[in-house]
Amino acid sequence: MERRTIGAAALEVGAIGLGCMPMSWAYSTSEQNGEESVRTVHAALDRGMTLLDTADMYGPFTNELLIGRVLKERRHDAFVSTKCGLLVGEQHIVANGRPSYVKRACDASLRRLQTDFIDLYQLHRVDPEVPVEETWGAMSELVAAGKVRALGFCAVGARADHRKSKTPGASGIHATTIRQLERVQGVFPVSGVQAELAVWSREALESLLPWCVSHGVGFMAAMPLGNGYLSGTLTTGGGFEGDDVRARHPRFTAEMMAANQPVVAGLRRIAERHDDATPAQVALAWLLAQGRQVIPLPGTKKERLLAENGRAAELALTPADMAELGALPAARGSWE
Ligand SMILES: NC(=O)c1ccc[n+]([C@@H]2O[C@H](COP(=O)([O-])OP(=O)(O)OC[C@H]3O[C@@H](n4cnc5c(N)ncnc54)[C@H](OP(=O)(O)O)[C@@H]3O)[C@@H](O)[C@H]2O)c1
Repeated sequence: MERRTIGAAALEVGAIGLGCMPMSWAYSTSEQNGEESVRTVHAALDRGMTLLDTADMYGPFTNELLIGRVLKERRHDAFVSTKCGLLVGEQHIVANGRPSYVKRACDASLRRLQTDFIDLYQLHRVDPEVPVEETWGAMSELVAAGKVRALGFCAVGARADHRKSKTPGASGIHATTIRQLERVQGVFPVSGVQAELAVWSREALESLLPWCVSHGVGFMAAMPLGNGYLSGTLTTGGGFEGDDVRARHPRFTAEMMAANQPVVAGLRRIAERHDDATPAQVALAWLLAQGRQVIPLPGTKKERLLAENGRAAELALTPADMAELGALPAARGSWE
């Protein structure tokens, strides 16, 4: 697999990473299978998909434990990216960016991951009660202590809890994020930014990705398959399990799943022009073509889907394909 670099330290990773979240969090619990997940992580490393993206809150904690089972055997094949700063409570998910907490969280992640260093340690959300420079300063001390190689920043949503009131929308989130990134850059260099980017949610192309390019920062595309929708394999009837994020996601009501079908139709049309290609592979190849800064993180717990996603690195889209994909409609159904 082609290699790409992250940040000023030029840390090398496979061009496509593995989002480990669906193994333990956010998607159908009944399909979770620890043994298959471990095999999937091994298969990713075998294919050169070295960036394993996890977080302490996925599970909570169980996702890191799964990854730790693989790292114990082959730490040097993997690039581990985990996150701190979100706590899963009884009722809500809350941010915690206090320096003392961040340091404890890192030690706990290291134990669960069965390693003595994290390649990329990311701030999952900014704690509104703590100046971001203080949180970032504590994270930079983890680099100085040799526990972490580089620091990253997530800009996926303004709120910790999707069930609560309004969000400013992706463009507003990115404007806020860029201001925060400028503040923390003065404390310690940012190596990676993680945010939603997919063919149906392209807002990051306007300002956030250009910011990353101009600062030499890696951009990790979260939800590159639109939570599975862009694969074209979801039926429009919905029927998600209660703890599946899509059961309450406004893009996944029966009405919006039907309204968003032109996006899938466009991906399928282009897939048909390339031998054996699938809509998911076209969605990932479109991301890879956005520039060498971009590392898509398709999430899956299944070996079969991992293999399909990995082959997207071999798919070369033509300028005509790219133009057509760039003209597809944006996703309908938002949290606003
Ligand atoms: N920083 C943040 O706040 C944040 C937020 C969201 C995500 N992320 C990161 O980004 C990663 C990717 O996001 P995501 O996992 O939410 O969304 P995604 O990659 O857009 O979609 C994941 C879903 O798509 C399915 N899928 C994967 N490949 C497929 C294929 N080839 N054909 C059909 N279905 C396929 C998976 O199925 P199975 O579940 O059956 O495997 C899963 O349900 C996460 O795993 C996580 O590491 C970070």
